[in-house]
Amino acid sequence: MSLGLAYRVRIEPSFSAWREEARLLLRQGIAPDQVELVSTEQDHAMTFGFAPAPAPDPALAIQKPSVPKAFFELAEIVCCHKDPDRWQLLYRVLWRVQHERSLLLNELDEDVARMRRMDQQVRRDLHKMHAFLRFRMVSTPEDPEEHYISWYRPDHRILELAVPFFAERFAVMQWTILTDYASASWDPQSRAVTWGPGVPRSEAPPEDELEGMWRSYYSSIFNPARLNTRAMKAEMPVRYWANLPELNILPQLLAGAESRVGVMMQQQSSLSANTYVPNDHTLPVLRDAIPRCEGCELYKPATQAVFGVGLAHAPIMLVGEQPGDMEDVEGKPFVGPAGKVLDQIIAELGFDRDTMYVTNAVKHFKFVQRGKRRIHESPNLKEIGACRPWLLAELDAVQPQVVVCLGASAAKSLLGAKFALMKDRGKIVESPYAPRVVATIHPSAVLRAEGETKQVLYNYIRQDLALAAQTAGLAG
Ligand code: URA
Ligand code: SF4
Repeated sequence: MSLGLAYRVRIEPSFSAWREEARLLLRQGIAPDQVELVSTEQDHAMTFGFAPAPAPDPALAIQKPSVPKAFFELAEIVCCHKDPDRWQLLYRVLWRVQHERSLLLNELDEDVARMRRMDQQVRRDLHKMHAFLRFRMVSTPEDPEEHYISWYRPDHRILELAVPFFAERFAVMQWTILTDYASASWDPQSRAVTWGPGVPRSEAPPEDELEGMWRSYYSSIFNPARLNTRAMKAEMPVRYWANLPELNILPQLLAGAESRVGVMMQQQSSLSANTYVPNDHTLPVLRDAIPRCEGCELYKPATQAVFGVGLAHAPIMLVGEQPGDMEDVEGKPFVGPAGKVLDQIIAELGFDRDTMYVTNAVKHFKFVQRGKRRIHESPNLKEIGACRPWLLAELDAVQPQVVVCLGASAAKSLLGAKFALMKDRGKIVESPYAPRVVATIHPSAVLRAEGETKQVLYNYIRQDLALAAQTAGLAG
């Protein structure tokens, strides 16, 4: 029996607010088709016009809801989606999970499929923000301390999800990220994030006016030493004041950071392909621009930049280290001896390299000259970091289902300098820049190895590529 819509519940757009309401509704036994959960972002008026609430059915009341971990994890991401219907969807699935324990495993279920789709969209948006947000340095006469600011426009409400990444990466900087719905400011001294109002899209400054806006307004608000919440609320319309708690994150971040300036230079500005990467992330545009890159010193002795090749929207993207001697001459990745090993493994698995996208973490060949020979030299962390913007732009263009890092350099680029290749190879992991990444051995390690090790390493790569193919939904 359907009782018709009886309740309307307004949800502040945060996971905890939804969870509170959902718990109350479950306890009263209010079924999802009896209630409408609306976000306060959408709900500008209208709280009347509904039938008086019938008494909930006590038999349906759930005092101790069971919230499986899988639901919890999914819901935390889905609640950041901008779809106004998300609170309703989440409640419906939570309700159904109480009665169908294995609901989340049923990928054919419409609600579950929708949640998964939303989860993917939010994650993709998050990876983009990690990859492409840029800070600008500003300082004001009253506040000569360097402050880095960025105005970024995510598709979804992902600032809270994104902040830990920037707090870790730019732990020693004072920075602020402004989005259309909220802002976050990091203070390296207290290692705390201060949350604030957003800048509505209509008032968003063009890139070159960001600084002026900062000077006139935000610097006084966001200087944590002078932060005055009450004054700020009085000045900003309440609806822009996101209801976010002050948060202390990752207190260990500062450990080991020495010089604010030194680390900053290394991480953000001095050595980077950033300014050479076009905003248009389509492969032909990127390929066209890369010969002009001078993002690090490696372009000088090399013959040419070697850009990726392959299928434009390949499900699998292979990332090597850097071009070798032959690649440098021919201008294509993996055409030398390591490429032969790779081809053999791919063929054994029943695939074809043309159905993948193949590139490198660093686009120029690094070598030392010994007589007539050019001896390969691994790129260092600075060079890998400098070249990362090209790789991220390729990732954005191709949007592969799975990225395979061939060797430690590619793994360092996408999974961080501390990634332990031998320990963590062969596992699907999430990178800040891509949802599914697996790292494996570099094919040239097979060439260098002797005796039994050769076959062992070969099998590792084979196994890990098979896992990637399976994850990407390809049948071998
Ligand atoms: N090794 C790599 O990592 N990439 C190439 O393109 C060739 C060899
Ligand atoms: Fe640019 Fe990368 Fe070449 Fe350095 S290695 S010059 S960052 S393309």
